[in-house]
Amino acid sequence: MSKVKTSPKNIKEGRLSYEWAKSHMQILNNTLTRLKKSKPLKGITLGFCLHITKETSVLLIGAKELGATVACCGGNPLTTQDNIAAFLASQGIHVYAWHGQSVKEYDWCIEQVLNHKPTILTDDGSDMNVKAHFDKKYKGMKILGATEETTAGVTRIRAVENQGKLRYPVILVNEAYTKHMFDNRYGTGQSTIDGYLRAMNLLLASKRVVVVGYGWVGRGVASRFHGMGSKIIITEVDPVKALEAHMDGFEVMPMAQACKVGDIFITCTGMTSVIRKEHILQMKDGAIMGNVGHFDVEIDAKFLLKKSKSVRQARPNLDECTLSNGKHVYLIGEGRLANLVAAEGHPPEVMAQSFSNQILSILYILKNHKKIGNKIINVPEEIDRQVAVDALKAMDVNIDKLTPEQVKYMNSW
Ligand SMILES: NC(=O)c1ccc[n+]([C@@H]2O[C@H](COP(=O)([O-])OP(=O)(O)OC[C@H]3O[C@@H](n4cnc5c(N)ncnc54)[C@H](O)[C@@H]3O)[C@@H](O)[C@H]2O)c1
Repeated sequence: MSKVKTSPKNIKEGRLSYEWAKSHMQILNNTLTRLKKSKPLKGITLGFCLHITKETSVLLIGAKELGATVACCGGNPLTTQDNIAAFLASQGIHVYAWHGQSVKEYDWCIEQVLNHKPTILTDDGSDMNVKAHFDKKYKGMKILGATEETTAGVTRIRAVENQGKLRYPVILVNEAYTKHMFDNRYGTGQSTIDGYLRAMNLLLASKRVVVVGYGWVGRGVASRFHGMGSKIIITEVDPVKALEAHMDGFEVMPMAQACKVGDIFITCTGMTSVIRKEHILQMKDGAIMGNVGHFDVEIDAKFLLKKSKSVRQARPNLDECTLSNGKHVYLIGEGRLANLVAAEGHPPEVMAQSFSNQILSILYILKNHKKIGNKIINVPEEIDRQVAVDALKAMDVNIDKLTPEQVKYMNSW
C-alpha cells in the first residue's frame, strides 16, 4: 500500500530542505555531536510517529547517526511533506508517510512502524502508543518506553495510565518548559500566521481574530496576530486563563457572541466541538476558520464539507462553503492543523529545542526504564535545564550566575 513518492526530484528537494533546517538547528546539532562518538543508540530500533517535516528529518537522521535503526510514519494524514519522506527513504530510514492519506492508510502506516518491533516509541498525539497498548497484534511486543510530543497526546496517555493500563514508561516531552513554552507558544504562533497567510493571503491588520483557547498555543497565536495589527478576541472555559487574556488587553467573550463578529477563527484547545453548526450559521459572510489543535475535532468540518449547499476549493488548502442561509464561509485544510497543512510547521530553531528534549529523553528511557516502571514522568529537570543552557549558547546569549553571597542569602532564613 506504500505510496512514498521517491522521485529523484523529491529526493533532491528534500535534501535541500533538510540541509536548510539542519543549518538552523544548532541546539540539536550540538546535542548530537556530543553523543555521536559513543553511538548510544547502537542496536536499538526506534519507532517515530511525527509530522514529517524538514525539522523532523534532522531528528531522524540524527538518531540514525547515533546508531539506531529508524522507522517512521506521519503524525497526521495531511502533514507529511513528500519531498522530506523521499529524502529520508534515500537515507536508509524506513518511511511510511505521504501527503493526503486516508484515515485507513494513516493507520496502516503506524502498523508498519510497529512491525519493525521498535523498543522505544516517539509519538505526537499518542496514536502509536494507543495502538501499541490496545491492538492485540502488539500485545506481547517488548517496548522499553515512549516519549510524547504534544498536549493532546499527553491527555490521551494520561487516560491510559489513569485506567491502570500503561504497560511501559512514558516521558512527557511536551511538559518540558523548554518544549511547551517555546514550541507550543512561539512555534505555533509564527507557523499559524504562515499557514493562514498561505491559505488566504488577506490583510491581517484590522481583522477581528477569534482565538479559541488561551493555553500555550492560544497565547502564542494571539500575540503574533496582535503583532500584525489584528484585533484579538479570546474565548475560554478556564476562568484563570480568561482573566489572563483580559489582563493582556484582549476582548474575552463566549463563542455564541464571538461567532457573530469574528473575521478569522483559530481553534487552539485540544477539545472537541468548540465551533459548532449553531456558531457557523451565525458567522459573517466571508468568515475564515482554521484549527491548530492536534486533532480535526475542534471545528464541525463534517457540517461544513458535507452539509453545505455547495463546496469548492477557493485556493489551495481553502474550501469555500456556501451555507443554507446563502453565506460563504471558508475552512482551512479540512480543519486539520492549519500551520502544518497549509505551511511547513514550526521554524527549525524552535524544533531544535523540542527535539533535543526528545533525543535526551529517549536516552533517559534506555538507561532508566526499569527504575521508572510503568509510569508517566515529566522530562527530568536536568534535561530541561541542559536544553535551556544549550539554547542560550546557540543564540549567543550570556546570563549571570548567583554570587556566593546570593547563594548564602537564598539558603538563610
Ligand atoms: N499546531 C501545532 O503545531 C501544535 C503545537 C503544539 C500543540 N498543539 C496542540 O494544540 C492544542 C492546545 O495545546 P496547548 O499546549 O495550548 O494546551 P493548553 O492546555 O495549554 O491550552 C488549551 C486551552 O484551551 C482551553 N479550552 C478547552 N476547551 C475549550 C472550549 N470549549 N472553549 C474555549 N477554550 C477551551 C483550555 O481551558 C486551555 O486554556 C493541543 O491539541 C496540542 O496538542 C498543536
